[in-house]
Amino acid sequence: MRTIRIEASRGYDVCVGPGLLKEAPGRLAALFPGARVMLVSDDRVFSLYGKTLLDDLAAAGTETETFVFPHGEKQKNLGTWGELLEALCRSGFTRADVVAALGGGVVGDLAGFAAAAYRRGIPFVQLPTTLLAAVDSSVGGKTAVDLAGGKNQAGAFYQPWLVLCDTDALATLPEAEYRGGCAEIVKYAVLGSRPLFDSIRRTPVSRQAEAVIARCVEMKRDYVLADEYDAGCRRMLNLGHTFGHAAELLSGYTVPHGQAVAMGMGVMARSAAAAGICSRETLAELLGLLEACGLPTLPPFGAEAMAEAARWDKKAEGERITLIVPEEIGRCRAETVDTAELAAWLRRGGLA
Ligand code: NAD
Ligand code: GLY
Repeated sequence: MRTIRIEASRGYDVCVGPGLLKEAPGRLAALFPGARVMLVSDDRVFSLYGKTLLDDLAAAGTETETFVFPHGEKQKNLGTWGELLEALCRSGFTRADVVAALGGGVVGDLAGFAAAAYRRGIPFVQLPTTLLAAVDSSVGGKTAVDLAGGKNQAGAFYQPWLVLCDTDALATLPEAEYRGGCAEIVKYAVLGSRPLFDSIRRTPVSRQAEAVIARCVEMKRDYVLADEYDAGCRRMLNLGHTFGHAAELLSGYTVPHGQAVAMGMGVMARSAAAAGICSRETLAELLGLLEACGLPTLPPFGAEAMAEAARWDKKAEGERITLIVPEEIGRCRAETVDTAELAAWLRRGGLA
């Protein structure tokens, strides 16, 4: 088991290793003596891990309530968020109680935003069960729901009190979800770690999950500590996301987040190579690793439609938007461009 300490506006441990869901009741009771727990999950994850966790919490003397919603990005909306707030209120939760998010990024983002809003903030813990949530969404305090106009348009910065990432839970992850997590791992490697890039080329992530997750969490910690509120260098974590979010939006959220990020990185790397910002060798290495992970590298949409969708990304500021562009494996740069230039970037990246 590895523990990474994040000393942000709230300090907390991110624990990564096998068996952590079994340990969760004891750890929660130690951190929040006497607290009730609202266990938030989606139907798939709850059917796999929910009942055992509730039984273990009861055995530890913890009173629980549950809020389970249908799986999928389409549920990460104001309607589900409002229902969770009403459930917290109906159950009489107070700021002495805890919200526990058991699931992937959809559950974590939604539960975290509800915890941030309910009574202006009640304690919140993350129990990530996807690779993507383990390496990215459970850490760093971004919480949100989607609005009709775009991804994550309503949310809050709200750090968790604890993150317990049980690597055993990844065993039941469908292949496509595992690949989606790999896209975020490739993102970290391209942003800042040639050794991580080479390591996942040599050895599949599934055979070194604990070490790879811990490395990604350390990298994310460094960005979060430098820029918790996303006004500067944390924006580097947006590599592949501006065009990825556009692809998600255009697909009506049928393209999953991780696959969309891979498409976003692919189109951006092609565009960077065509502009001479990165070499053809860097492009080939990046596309090669994404393809080896079974990930798509081009969005199935045209340049104009993608550009229009990207204009609404929440990272856009007026007519300007910052793109994260690969220079070489392990180094990227931020380019602030006029939103009118987005279609040209996308066409140069291979979109019609
Ligand atoms: P998800 O939460 O929808 O999970 C994917 C699917 O896997 C779901 O159907 C879920 O039921 C299932 N699942 C989860 N764990 C499982 C397990 N152990 N075994 C079997 N099935 C399991 O999606 P995700 O990819 O985890 O997260 C994507 C979301 O995260 C997006 O909404 C994205 O915007 C958000 N995100 C947030 C941040 C952040 O910093 N807050 C960062 C990256 C992504
Ligand atoms: N996933 C991007 C961030 O946390 O900043």
